[in-house]
Amino acid sequence: MAGQKIDGIAVANSVKERVRAAAETLRSEGIRPCLATVLVGENPASTIYVTNKQKACFEVGIETKDHKLPDSFSQQEMNSLIDLLNKDGTVHGILVQLPLPKQLDEFATTSRISPIKDVDGLTPYNIGLLASGRAILKPCTPSGIMELFDYYKIDLSGKNIVIINRSHLVGKPLYHLMLEKNATVTTCHSKTKNLKQHCLSTDIIITAIGDRSKFTLTADMISDGAIVIDVGTSRQDGKLVGDMDYENVIKKASYATPVPGGVGPMTIAMLLKNTVTAASISKGFVPSR
Ligand code: GUN
Repeated sequence: MAGQKIDGIAVANSVKERVRAAAETLRSEGIRPCLATVLVGENPASTIYVTNKQKACFEVGIETKDHKLPDSFSQQEMNSLIDLLNKDGTVHGILVQLPLPKQLDEFATTSRISPIKDVDGLTPYNIGLLASGRAILKPCTPSGIMELFDYYKIDLSGKNIVIINRSHLVGKPLYHLMLEKNATVTTCHSKTKNLKQHCLSTDIIITAIGDRSKFTLTADMISDGAIVIDVGTSRQDGKLVGDMDYENVIKKASYATPVPGGVGPMTIAMLLKNTVTAASISKGFVPSR
């Protein structure tokens, strides 16, 4: 029997409904939740992502302040912009779209954001809270994946999980969030030996490579009834595809996420959630984890 498709659009819509209600409550208290977006250069994928994030904000009643900057933007200019946004009382969340052009240092840039406006959860302070199991503003893609498990009532306790990614945006934060749920987590990367063996002997696979010319997760690489979450996106013959051969993997898996319509919508939904959380923090509210 084929496995169940994990419907990221439906789950994202349920998160958005809650965010819309929270934004309305904030407005009734005199706070207009606002996200500042910072996009440097004209990377086509980043431009689409930022536009989609702004549209989603508009749909749930979050205002946006758009900062589109030339490819030549310097670190000094970036520092001044972040300092200004940190001080601006009408801005509750700051999103600097990654990757940045090479003259800009990603760590120096994200580290400069005030931790209470850090809707990507990338500042050292928020990473530290995450590693301590106490984060409030968590990176959007990993927290979106956790929301999918919650929605489908998939219990991670005692499960073996393989993450194929070790980035700051996905693999590392996800490791902490899953460990917190008592899973046994293995992080695989480009130097991992016997990746197929790791995949075949695990209950859950999270794949986030994003280059089908280098890597495809095929049905022969998963165990019967495995759960597969696909974070990778790339283009094949002009079509958006994930890391896995979904058509065949879903025949063997118990659950799998499609691309598009899986993890992508969750990343945006969690950004909206983090923005209303940051707006609540701005009035002194301490949210529960
Ligand atoms: N680039 C790809 N994913 C993300 C994300 O979640 N946040 C930011 N800021 N940039 C990204």
